[in-house]
Amino acid sequence: MHTYIWHMVLGAVAGVEPSKIIRQVPAVYVFGDSTLDVGNNNYLPGKDVPKANKPYYGIDFPGSKPTGRFSNGYNAADFVGAGILDSTNAGGNIPLSKQVIYFNSTKAEMVSKVGPGRVRELLAKSFFLFGVGSNDMFAFARAQQKQNRSATPAEVKAFYTSLISNYSAAITELYGMGARKMGIINVGPVGCVPSVRVSNATGGCNVGLNQLAAGFDAALATLMSGLAARLPGLAYSIADSFALTQITFSNPAAAGYANADSACCGAGRLGAEGACQRGASLCVDRDRFVFWDSVHPSQQSNKLGAKAYFDGPAQFTSPISFKQLASYKSS
Ligand SMILES: *[C@@H]1O[C@H](CO)[C@@H](O)[C@H](O)[C@H]1NC(C)=O
Ligand SMILES: *[C@@H]1O[C@H](CO)[C@@H](O)[C@H](O)[C@H]1NC(C)=O
Ligand SMILES: *[C@@H]1O[C@H](CO)[C@@H](O)[C@H](O)[C@H]1NC(C)=O
Ligand SMILES: *[C@@H]1O[C@H](CO)[C@@H](O)[C@H](O)[C@H]1NC(C)=O
Repeated sequence: MHTYIWHMVLGAVAGVEPSKIIRQVPAVYVFGDSTLDVGNNNYLPGKDVPKANKPYYGIDFPGSKPTGRFSNGYNAADFVGAGILDSTNAGGNIPLSKQVIYFNSTKAEMVSKVGPGRVRELLAKSFFLFGVGSNDMFAFARAQQKQNRSATPAEVKAFYTSLISNYSAAITELYGMGARKMGIINVGPVGCVPSVRVSNATGGCNVGLNQLAAGFDAALATLMSGLAARLPGLAYSIADSFALTQITFSNPAAAGYANADSACCGAGRLGAEGACQRGASLCVDRDRFVFWDSVHPSQQSNKLGAKAYFDGPAQFTSPISFKQLASYKSS
């Protein structure tokens, strides 16, 4: 569980290869938290920075290499990117507002190399993938817990307002820079991650935390339809991680899972009482676990999620799928 609020990752693909223009989109830009990190945290200084740069992270990655992905293998950014484009990702990990400014610099560099017209064309066709918010929910809940109370409705409302205003500012600014296709993964039922369940004597989900996430997701949907109405040529798809995960929890076996409440890699009750590190307990059939560590989904969960968002059942994306978004022609 990370302590950063709005820490963001940008994986930018700055060059276009004309020979590969038949691809659906020329580039995928990823803005997200640890669930989409492909190794950026490794470059941050400080001993408190969470890093997935040691075993057993990456145990199912080619060469069993810990890459910084908070997964046993690939994560959702890899799978969505792979579904749309074979892209490479590289970048930093910084707050959203700064991230947008850095993206602006990346854009300026691109403009100096290939000119504004070409960059405009590239960005309008590119896929901007977002996945943030979980850490904000955790941080908010922790702050309340410290005070031995639950948030008042007014406090929850103010919390949503601040998150939505940040999200809105980021999307509006990226739109101003030429971004037109936004794929947004909403916040899942974060009250059901093993590290939260373990503090419930029954091992059940924290209902309040799930409600907090659901309320945010509703506000996010309202934000996006409002922005799309106001910003000509903007297209978006919201991936309903919340619904997909709830359905998975209601019948894990139907999705091929044997375990939906514990960390594959960890220690103690629900695998959530100790870190995933060398010497930790490690499940044998990792594809049968929803969770890799006490917070992050397994490679298999990421794969099934990406598949559902890309061209799965219509109920998991709104108003269009990631695939439709990728092929959307901005006017
Ligand atoms: C982006 O950079 C340009 C100058 O290259 C500047 O005019 C503009 O205000 C910047 N926008 C943001 C959101 O930082
Ligand atoms: C919350 O409760 C714990 C024990 O129940 C107590 O030690 C702590 O001081 C309380 N914190 C506040 C802010 O009231
Ligand atoms: C983002 O939220 C913080 C509060 O958490 C606020 O101080 C800041 O002004 C917001 N930024 C934007 C761009 O909305
Ligand atoms: C703990 O889990 C049970 C279900 O097993 C649930 O009814 C209860 O609300 C949970 N506790 C909290 C604080 O959410």
